[in-house]
Amino acid sequence: MQKVENFNLSEIDALNQKFNKCSAEEVLEFFLTRYKGKIALSSSMGLEDQVLTSMVCDIDKTTRIFTLDTGRLFPETYELIDKTNQFFDINIEVFFPDFKAVDQMTSAKGINLFYGSVENRKECCRIRKIEPLKRAFNNLDVWICGLRRDQSVTRFSTKKIEWDETNNIIKLNPLIDWTEKQVRHFLKENKIPYNPLHDKGFPSIGCQPCTRAVKPGEDVRAGRWWWEEPEHKECGLHNRNQK
Ligand code: ADX
Ligand code: SF4
Repeated sequence: MQKVENFNLSEIDALNQKFNKCSAEEVLEFFLTRYKGKIALSSSMGLEDQVLTSMVCDIDKTTRIFTLDTGRLFPETYELIDKTNQFFDINIEVFFPDFKAVDQMTSAKGINLFYGSVENRKECCRIRKIEPLKRAFNNLDVWICGLRRDQSVTRFSTKKIEWDETNNIIKLNPLIDWTEKQVRHFLKENKIPYNPLHDKGFPSIGCQPCTRAVKPGEDVRAGRWWWEEPEHKECGLHNRNQK
């Protein structure tokens, strides 16, 4: 197998061409087999992640699935972690932020610092999400994500397979071309549990203080960090050096 450190961009291009017309299941099957033991699904427990959890479990139930518990999630999200574990008979790994870093940040800037400035918000996301994500990456060559291109202007040019230069890891977005309608259809067909907030005006769900319901016709991510401009609306998980 190709050592992931040596992965070059022309190989990523070739893989994108190879899997351009393939289904999400086909691309997952290839990567789950090729990178067995070195690949994981990162789930925010969103609609797309529930689809991917189902597909991953169908192909190889021993695959690692992890979630980043920022400490500020909705109660419904915690309930869904439990429900999903029971439904698929799995054990989603939970990564927490470093408590000392959270202590320091909230002592210096307040518990709800994120409303103060984009800088504060990014610091909170860095401590509560990015640093734990780096720990979750330990021993991984590939991370699977639930990004879809039509979720946001910031995801417009996202590819199915990317090289994450910051983390030296292959990033796989099997649902990149899916619409929300397709996602919902898959969940309904397969009777997969999902967060009830999605039916109450929350198309995209993150941390409770940074997510609100959207009005009909509003952008799917309009309720995420709603006080910021659309081009800032990434927490750092997905907007770094992706090639
Ligand atoms: S975010 O960057 O704005 O928070 P979003 O909620 O759209 O991301 O989710 C996109 C993908 O990022 C998810 O499908 C999932 O793969 C990953 N992700 C986001 N938040 C988390 C989380 N808390 N834990 C694990 N993965 C996450
Ligand atoms: Fe902090 Fe909000 Fe980012 Fe969650 S989404 S880590 S609460 S700034």
